[in-house]
Amino acid sequence: MFKTQFLNRRQFLVSGAAFAASMQTGAAGTAAPAAPPITLRAAAGQAALRPAPFGMTPVWQYNGSVPGAEIRVRQGERLRIEAQNQLPADTTIHWHGIRTPNAMDGVAGLTQAPIKSEDKFLYEFDALDAGTFWYHPHHNSAEQVARGLYGPLIVEEHDPIRVDREVTWMLDDWRLTEDGAIAGGFGAMHDAAHGGRMGNTVTINGRMAQQFAVKPAERIRLRLINAANARIFGLDFGALSPVVIALDGQPVTPHTPDSGVVVIGPAMRVDLVLDMTGPAGAVMPVTDVFYNRMEYKLVDLVHDATPLRNTVPDWSMELAPNPLSEPDLAKATRHEVIFNGGMMGQGMMGGGMMSMMNQMRQGNMWFINGVAAKGPVKEPFLTLAQGTSHILSMENRTDWPHPIHFHGHSFRVIARNGQATRYQEWQDTVMMAPDEKVDIAFVADNPGDWMFHCHILEHQAAGMMGVIRVAPQA
Ligand code: C2O
Ligand code: CU
Repeated sequence: MFKTQFLNRRQFLVSGAAFAASMQTGAAGTAAPAAPPITLRAAAGQAALRPAPFGMTPVWQYNGSVPGAEIRVRQGERLRIEAQNQLPADTTIHWHGIRTPNAMDGVAGLTQAPIKSEDKFLYEFDALDAGTFWYHPHHNSAEQVARGLYGPLIVEEHDPIRVDREVTWMLDDWRLTEDGAIAGGFGAMHDAAHGGRMGNTVTINGRMAQQFAVKPAERIRLRLINAANARIFGLDFGALSPVVIALDGQPVTPHTPDSGVVVIGPAMRVDLVLDMTGPAGAVMPVTDVFYNRMEYKLVDLVHDATPLRNTVPDWSMELAPNPLSEPDLAKATRHEVIFNGGMMGQGMMGGGMMSMMNQMRQGNMWFINGVAAKGPVKEPFLTLAQGTSHILSMENRTDWPHPIHFHGHSFRVIARNGQATRYQEWQDTVMMAPDEKVDIAFVADNPGDWMFHCHILEHQAAGMMGVIRVAPQA
């Protein structure tokens, strides 16, 4: 039943390996035969972001749609993806949150040369972790993601939790002109110095959503992915009680979020179990309440007249953990990572104000440990020995929130403002509120040079990035 639902999805891509593996059960440890690669073709096209009578929007997209094709594989399978570049620009593809070998990470100028127009590149890696991931370019990301280049990558558990339906919602926030074109000015200074490129049109799976049909007493696993350059979502499900079961693909103790609002910063993912407790015919709005006085209705959940069953099910919501290395906190080395910069940031008032002012005149707005990175960064600000445990004590000395992403690893968020977190959650992108201190811990177990950056893409472009090197043990 579960499989059939997947096959009915509007956009569905799965490797031959996934199919082969699903045919041979109990073959743990035997590698599936090499399958022909999946193709992701990046090209200019059109998308119906807005409902009629509005026209189409010229976009850049993968395989002719926004979002690009949903890639689905089973945990442990090997992905082979041929990226074809038919854009009028260089590009790459990064597999956000997937622990790939370094050479497959898709970072232009660090892990590979950009893929030229009319050229292609074969990505190949194992899906080690089950969960909700996504892909996007890592070359001029502030422009290329804003133009529509992104798609979901779902790695299915061997033993998924039971639900009636699985749904992926890829959220985006577009800045459109009145005639529905994507506004230019990518990476504009004003956006970069403030909260990033905020848009005016929010879409779910590439469409301004109006209604989403559900059945009373239905259980849905909702995979939320924030593909926006800058917008943070704070989803209020009203009388429904969403239960968070995974963050950034990694299982977490099932819990209802504090204050009931599901917060998703750029690049982050949240998996929810959503029981439709509304009565037959009920129309229940989902509202985005993140920014003060800027609330808007994202979509209406419209309950069918016929309930699926009498009461909501009580099936387990616990996902099996992924094979992540557990950091040894007693032996971990602690590193301070200070973020400053931006308008009205304390960094402007600090000792380095004069030099920072000069830097900002050159478009360097944001600093990690005093350095604003330019272009493709290559020199690491931290070098960690492979296999050792580390704690990054991060401090946001700015007046803006920042979703901080580390490539090639997942980390535990162990403390906020010196207080241990309740769930010690694994993430690959962590939101830091203004003036907040966040401690993350991980084992540096994936060798190579890895990006560490703010995922507000205008902040990244204006300096808020660096490289952490994991050096192989001699
Ligand atoms: Cu979503 Cu550095 O990437
Ligand atoms: Cu930022």
